[in-house]
Amino acid sequence: MAVNAIMKYGSPVLREKAVPVAVVGEAVRTLVSDMLASMYAENGVGLAAEQIGRTEAVCVIDVPAEQACGVKMPLALINPQIVEAEGEQVGQEGCLSFPDVYVNVRRAERVKASYLDTDGHPQTVDATGLLSRAIQHEIDHLNGVLLVDHMSPVQKVANAGKLKRMKRGV
Ligand code: NI
Repeated sequence: MAVNAIMKYGSPVLREKAVPVAVVGEAVRTLVSDMLASMYAENGVGLAAEQIGRTEAVCVIDVPAEQACGVKMPLALINPQIVEAEGEQVGQEGCLSFPDVYVNVRRAERVKASYLDTDGHPQTVDATGLLSRAIQHEIDHLNGVLLVDHMSPVQKVANAGKLKRMKRGV
């Protein structure tokens, strides 16, 4: 288990589209445990592979039990896809690649996602609230879509200084 540095806004890898995992084996299980360790080290509730400089279609999530919709945490999603989405929620969202940036983001209230678990078995997860938001945020990462892409012009102006410093790597 290794704790990796989290890539910040401005790192090109964050814009890469993840590559589906062909075989779920030891290499992916090691990646999942490294991602969990890296996420916990930064007190995050979700992390996508790009955030530690990798391009496998893998993300991990660990939300508090009372917001986990009965799903056992942590959750590792391999090759996840949203298969159903409905309703709407607006709530504050952050990202380990955007330190100290929190903005209100509109998301679907409920999503159903398909994925492979760490044994390679097909699974689905049905989520509302924070877990639904986390799944949507992490799948965005796997498509190279970032928190900044959800910002309104006003939110971008309000965070312009922080975004510029991140891009410069300071
Ligand atoms: Ni993020």
